[in-house]
Amino acid sequence: MPDPRFTRRGLLAGGAATVAGALSARISERSPSTGGTALAATPPDTTPQTPAGSATEPFHGVRQAGVATLPQAHAVFVGLDLLPGTGREAIGRMMRLLTDDARRLTQGRPALADTEPELAVLPARLTVTFGFGPGLFAAAGLGERRPASVAPLPRFTIDRLEERWTGADLLLQICADDGVTLAHALRMTVKDARAFARVRWTQRGFRRSPVTQAPGLTQHNLLGQLDGTVNPRPGTPDFDRAVWVNDGPEWLRGGTTLVLRRIRAELETWDAADRTAKEFTVGRRLDTGAPLTGRFEHDEPDFDRLTPAGLPVISEYAHIRRAHVKDPGMRIFRRVYNYDEGLTARGHSDCGLLFASYQADVTRQFVPIQRRLAEADLLNEWTTPIGSAVFAVPPGCAEGGWIGETLLS
Ligand code: HEM
Repeated sequence: MPDPRFTRRGLLAGGAATVAGALSARISERSPSTGGTALAATPPDTTPQTPAGSATEPFHGVRQAGVATLPQAHAVFVGLDLLPGTGREAIGRMMRLLTDDARRLTQGRPALADTEPELAVLPARLTVTFGFGPGLFAAAGLGERRPASVAPLPRFTIDRLEERWTGADLLLQICADDGVTLAHALRMTVKDARAFARVRWTQRGFRRSPVTQAPGLTQHNLLGQLDGTVNPRPGTPDFDRAVWVNDGPEWLRGGTTLVLRRIRAELETWDAADRTAKEFTVGRRLDTGAPLTGRFEHDEPDFDRLTPAGLPVISEYAHIRRAHVKDPGMRIFRRVYNYDEGLTARGHSDCGLLFASYQADVTRQFVPIQRRLAEADLLNEWTTPIGSAVFAVPPGCAEGGWIGETLLS
């Protein structure tokens, strides 16, 4: 006898029960914030999940998720500009709504009035992180509470910034190990932001993640380099000192700042360089990621070592020498994603890095490194910054709280 679950009649009967169950659940869960008119859907809990699909990152806490979180496979960064006349009170309302969306979606529950609740059931380590750009402080009449370094960066000679990738009042950073989950969270949150803000840019990125690569290994970027070797490690005192705001403005304590640079990679000419040149440019080997003075990825580079001809083994202009910061507590935390917008008509890749750098203070930590790189970094030959935005990333919130309450309430 066939299994009734797989017969037409069995499916229909089961389907009817599911629909009835879902309907009664929808009717019983009404939105308090919309006066009970919107229906909040409860997902039918029938999707078989893998451990990676059902994995969640905590939403509530002292810090927002999405910074110290082990990087997920997919990311989308959305820059929004507030609509004219959107002041402090309206921004607060928007942040309550968006926090509610994030709180639900990250835990595998549909947003209120979710139009595709089935897409919310695989959280896949979804995180939604919010950032406030300089314009948000001005719109809220809170200019005096904006940290001085949350402002457009100084101009660097290497910059070829395009308006369409630069600046924004509000950032949504959405990351997940599943592309469908990510697209759904993007749609639900941006829908709720529409009454208050319009989208300025959307930047999508991807990287190797624990879904495909053993955790603890450094990922390769599209230039074929191991990217992320020297980086503060989440959970260590150095990370806490370098990344979280401890002694800045009261409202930002427990938060951080984000510099997002869109950096185009000139892969056609990079392909023309040989391996030795590529390794000389960065100061590390492509296969192992080891410094040119060592054997293993995590060997300390020896910047004083000379070749028999008396030249530094790691060039004065190698990327890792120019970017190196001695004091680990003063480093930046790089959580980078690759971008790839496909091919140009000539078949060339339009790709590069969404260079996301988190630090307690942009002016003291990020700017000096970027200045040294802009002055002389061999890698500049193959990389071009085309977008730039700076955000304050407020602390997290407790259950019943909302992101931004320390500034806006
Ligand atoms: C497309 C552009 C870039 C590429 C492809 C790139 C690639 C790399 C690679 C391969 C390494 C060595 C491995 C590692 O430690 O992760 C590295 C290190 C580093 N990069 Fe970049 N990078 C880029 C842009 C930048 C920018 C814009 C900054 C900061 C303003 C930066 C800061 C650093 C730092 C701080 C290190 C570690 C240096 C150390 O050894 O102490 N990079 N980068």
